Amino acid sequence: MSETEATHEPDQRVTTIGETSERVREEWTDYHFSGDAKLSIEDLDVYYGDEQALQGVSLDIPDESVTALIGPSGCGKSTFLRCLNRMNDRIKAARVDGSVTLEGTDVYGDGVNLVELRKRIGMVFQEPNPFPKSIRDNISYGPRKHGDLDTGLLARLLGRDDTGAERELVERALRRAALYDEVENRLDDNALGLSGGQQQRLCIARCLAVDPEVILMDEPASALDPIATAKIEDLIEELAEDYAVVVVTHNMQQAARISDQTAVFLTGGELVEYGDTDQIFENPQSQRVEDYVTGKFG
Ligand SMILES: Nc1ncnc2c1ncn2[C@@H]1O[C@H](COP(=O)(O)OP(=O)(O)O)[C@@H](O)[C@H]1O
Ligand SMILES: [Mg+2]
Repeated sequence: MSETEATHEPDQRVTTIGETSERVREEWTDYHFSGDAKLSIEDLDVYYGDEQALQGVSLDIPDESVTALIGPSGCGKSTFLRCLNRMNDRIKAARVDGSVTLEGTDVYGDGVNLVELRKRIGMVFQEPNPFPKSIRDNISYGPRKHGDLDTGLLARLLGRDDTGAERELVERALRRAALYDEVENRLDDNALGLSGGQQQRLCIARCLAVDPEVILMDEPASALDPIATAKIEDLIEELAEDYAVVVVTHNMQQAARISDQTAVFLTGGELVEYGDTDQIFENPQSQRVEDYVTGKFG
């Protein structure tokens, strides 16, 4: 959306209600989609010590699509994302209230196995963080840890020794992450020798290797050059055919390009509006969201 389009034409902008210090309205975050929610978040509050980082956030995330989380720095996007697979458990000061449900399973319920949870809900970070190991070992690390590679199902089902199974799994994950063609002749080389964009696709492949259901990405392309960014964006759109992908980005053009629905968080850790991406960018209901997506602040 260009600056000129953002110019106010009050008579035509029927969606702009013109409040200056508007209150958040529940209907602005009431997004309807077909199918069941993959993740359901209800009344989520997060505190770091005495500071509240998220306030009463509720939203449903559909399967097999891209959900973008946008908003100015410090509005709680990363905090929200980390709540979904309980990465906030690692932050001592963090306290989480409310509920997160993954297809009927209470993510914060007693007896939830965090290793299993993070296998179902994988995560990719802003800075590519491959292990200082070979490309192959980066991919097979997770399946080995989960016992799926040498003793497990896959090897048994395929009736092969685990070298064959590993080779297949590594190739499949790298292909799915659009990296295989670039690295097929150097699978035993150290992953740290790859370019930043390749490392990020490797991290995505590593996440895919354990067969997740949801993939969380926190500004996955913000450390990359434009060409590497375009590859990650294409990949995200492809992954949405099979997974629920939740992407934090501060790049609004990126959110507009790759996502199906967009959630806008604003200062104070409130979810202000959530809806179809085209609607959020072209026809937002909240004045503050309109000001944000047209570049007036943030
Ligand atoms: N580990 C932490 N300890 C204390 N405060 C934190 C921590 N992480 C984030 N915060 C605070 O929570 C708020 C939201 O941060 P964050 O989720 O990182 O926002 P965003 O990703 O939208 O930039 C900010 O005020 C930030 O300073
Ligand atoms: Mg962040």
